[in-house]
Amino acid sequence: MLIYLFFILIFLVFATMLYAGFSAAPWLPSWKKDMQTILAQAQIQPGEIVADLGCGDGRWLLAAAKHTQARLVIGYEISLLMYCWSRIKLLFGNYPQIKIKYRDFYFADFSRYDVILCFLTPRAMRKLAPKLNREMRPGARLVSYAFSLPGKQAEKVAKVTPKSVPVYLYKF
Ligand SMILES: C[S@@+](CC[C@H](N)C(=O)[O-])C[C@H]1O[C@@H](n2cnc3c(N)ncnc32)[C@H](O)[C@@H]1O
Repeated sequence: MLIYLFFILIFLVFATMLYAGFSAAPWLPSWKKDMQTILAQAQIQPGEIVADLGCGDGRWLLAAAKHTQARLVIGYEISLLMYCWSRIKLLFGNYPQIKIKYRDFYFADFSRYDVILCFLTPRAMRKLAPKLNREMRPGARLVSYAFSLPGKQAEKVAKVTPKSVPVYLYKF
């Protein structure tokens, strides 16, 4: 019996990882050295609500919770392994403002967020563009790591050195 459960778990881990890869992006962590640039672009104000679309191991959620006064920092994650990993990381601190949802972010309502952070593929950015344009409130910001949002002019692009990854800021 236990062996069946084990195989079901392994299947779920791989199936959800595969789904995430096809849906928007496989897990690929951003560089820790770029975290300050991401937060500087986001300019998160006290009381704001922030979302990370595909939070991976939760490093952006933790950085936002530690270095800003965001009221809520919400991570969406669909890969079972990354979801569990990010939740385990939360056990090592007291971060009541962080919530991690095991949910496909394409089904989330973006209108409640002041800031959305993402590190997705160019294909996912194309898919996400109409939803963002439709749902983001006036004044809300999107910070995209590495890839631009098609059809929208970036407010600012930060690239610390010629070799570093660009971080795009969009205002709606
Ligand atoms: C490139 S990683 C970025 C991780 C993290 N934000 C970082 O920069 O370190 C993309 C993440 O999005 C997740 N993902 C992909 N498609 C998703 C979807 N439809 N809903 C929720 N999460 C998704 C993947 O499992 C992966 O962890």
